Amino acid sequence: MEIHIATIVNGSETPAGDGISGALRCVIRLQDGTKRSAILKRGPVGQIMAEAFSALLLSKWNLPVPLPFLIDEAGAMAFASADVGYPNLKQSLNLDSLPKGPAREAALQVCAALACSLPTTPLAAACDEAIDNRDRNLGNILWDGNTEAWIDHALALGQGSHLQDANKLCDMALFIGQDERLQRSAIAQALLLDRSAPASAETALSSVTVPTTGVVPLIATRLNAIGNRLVARFPRPLDLLTNHDRV
Ligand SMILES: Nc1ncnc2c1ncn2[C@@H]1O[C@H](COP(=O)(O)OP(=O)(O)O)[C@@H](O)[C@H]1O
Ligand SMILES: [Mg+2]
Repeated sequence: MEIHIATIVNGSETPAGDGISGALRCVIRLQDGTKRSAILKRGPVGQIMAEAFSALLLSKWNLPVPLPFLIDEAGAMAFASADVGYPNLKQSLNLDSLPKGPAREAALQVCAALACSLPTTPLAAACDEAIDNRDRNLGNILWDGNTEAWIDHALALGQGSHLQDANKLCDMALFIGQDERLQRSAIAQALLLDRSAPASAETALSSVTVPTTGVVPLIATRLNAIGNRLVARFPRPLDLLTNHDRV
């Protein structure tokens, strides 16, 4: 996957309907003149870099992510992704419309179970661990009943250091009691991640004005210990040799 530069078709922007960053649904025009529907995100340059770098890297790691674009707005870069045309998991199950209480709790369980059961969830958990994505909430998983797409990596790659350190897919698996299954399969996926992909993603971004300093080493450090990192996301077995009778 490479990253294409595009421009916004004037007047085509409407609210995307979810999220906190003011994402906009719009029409973009590619350099070859073709137009397509996309979701536009503006923000600090670090977050634009995190979105673009992650989209390139995760697609190299075979995670389904929408096609990414960089939008040149008079020098400032914005990020856009091809509109896949289906909702996120929170919207699919209408979670936001339910009042707080047992019905909402039950729906949340169903939603988490769905998120954990997708064919690419173990790979996504491994990728999130590698890129330090602390923000894999149910609004960042798109699902049409058949196919999933993973979005919103604005707070990965060091941009989310104000958030609690978390791998939310592991948290969801714990919440629904599927932790052992996810742990095993995520570790297996992590060991298969192509170690040369981060440098290729950096090369793909080298021709655009999006600084990626420090990102490849950050991912390399995380990949070096990714098995241990994933193990640590789940509670450890009690130390059966500990003798609590003696002081
Ligand atoms: N490529 C896409 N295709 C379809 N819908 C998308 C796409 N990208 C984002 N969205 C929709 O827009 C919402 C907000 O986008 P997101 O990237 O999560 O931004 P935020 O940082 O505001 O959470 C998502 O929850 C989803 O409903
Ligand atoms: Mg989001």
